[in-house]
Amino acid sequence: MPKVLVVGAGGREHAIVRALLRTSAERPEVHVAPGNPGIARDAETHAVPVEDVAALVGLAQELAVDLVVVGPEVPLVAGLVDALQEAAIPAFGPTAAAARLEGSKAFAKEVMLAAGVPTAGYETVTTVDAGMAAITGYPVVLKYDGLAAGKGVVIAEDEQTARATLVDMLEEGQFGDAAVVVEEFLRGEEVSLLAVCDGRRAVPLAPAQDYKRIFEGDEGPNTGGMGSYSPVVGVDAERVAAISALVHQPIVDELARRGTPFTGVLYAGLMVDAETGGVQVLEYNTRFGDPETQAVLPRLRSDLLTLMTAAAGGPDAEDGGLPEAPLEWDPRWAVTLVLASRGYPASASKGDVIKGLGGVPSSAEVTHAGTGLDDQGRPITAGGRVLNVTALGESPAAARQAAYAAAQGIGFDGRQLRRDIALRAVERFGG
Ligand code: AMP
Ligand code: GLY
Repeated sequence: MPKVLVVGAGGREHAIVRALLRTSAERPEVHVAPGNPGIARDAETHAVPVEDVAALVGLAQELAVDLVVVGPEVPLVAGLVDALQEAAIPAFGPTAAAARLEGSKAFAKEVMLAAGVPTAGYETVTTVDAGMAAITGYPVVLKYDGLAAGKGVVIAEDEQTARATLVDMLEEGQFGDAAVVVEEFLRGEEVSLLAVCDGRRAVPLAPAQDYKRIFEGDEGPNTGGMGSYSPVVGVDAERVAAISALVHQPIVDELARRGTPFTGVLYAGLMVDAETGGVQVLEYNTRFGDPETQAVLPRLRSDLLTLMTAAAGGPDAEDGGLPEAPLEWDPRWAVTLVLASRGYPASASKGDVIKGLGGVPSSAEVTHAGTGLDDQGRPITAGGRVLNVTALGESPAAARQAAYAAAQGIGFDGRQLRRDIALRAVERFGG
């Protein structure tokens, strides 16, 4: 029985664990560090934080795992995969050099340009004056050049906001130094298209959309994501292949050429022009998306462990890397709702008792993100995004209805739930 260690503690990692257990013919033994109380019901959890690279390598050695799957970006950028490779432990995820695609916005833009990937015009600046001089009109997009947990992008509507943002990012405030990417503002609709890569090839997953703003109608501040659905109306398998050839493969080729091949999940955040259907890349992440993964992986029919093992082995492995054939998907629709705690995203209310988890119908899947247990063993809130509820259905409407029906039974003080997740898909899909 193969042993796998999944690194992470959120809904994304819970969905990865479930998909490994469900799709993999070899029935792996799954361990998670550190996991959460929900994950602990499906796998063995170990209290090692995601930032502790040395302890994670030690745990992987101690457990003698066959594969480590790294969920979040922080350990990737910190070099966890490099350290695992040095210890001869196969790892699914990019090295620190390849994870710079997510860790540095300026690096990502430079690679996109070199690879010929369509993206918004930009300039990288290190002073406020240079930043103001680079702005050609409003709104303008200002991106802090480093990991900022989704809070490093500001869309400035006017000169005053732009200047204040540049001062904050470059001279003082929460970040302080480094560089800023000043980028042209793009209009359209966002689509997330992820691909599994083995250093040489990119094999796309099913497309998804996520809902980043806290309030209905895409109002209010950005969050880590309040819901998602998959697939996307109008983005069929043929289109997925064409977009992947445009936004994933050239990046994989470019990084291979530079001697820092990309292994793991390459997540392209796309802006699709409503009129022309043209695609531009907003950003790359170097990992599975959260909450896209919670909607995408329940639809996967291919063997996820085989896929990840092949990717981690690289193109020169005995089995020759990723399969040539496209992945297989459940044709049904998946809708994922995020239940967030009071105060999110500015803060997160902790310790609120969660009720109703036992009564969720088996037609829906609950994955845990920010949950804990109180001293009586009751589930409580322990973070901003608390739980995810996913349901599958023959149509977007059916999936949506099942997800909301299941979420309705789960309650905690201050619960936040967007009511309009996947409504767009319902409207477009028709009938
Ligand atoms: P990023 O972290 O680069 O994806 O940016 C976070 C969010 O900011 C994206 O998901 C978009 O909603 C928005 N965004 C980023 N870049 C642009 C752009 N060039 N034009 C319009 N919106 C953008
Ligand atoms: N859903 C956006 C992200 O994972 O970054």
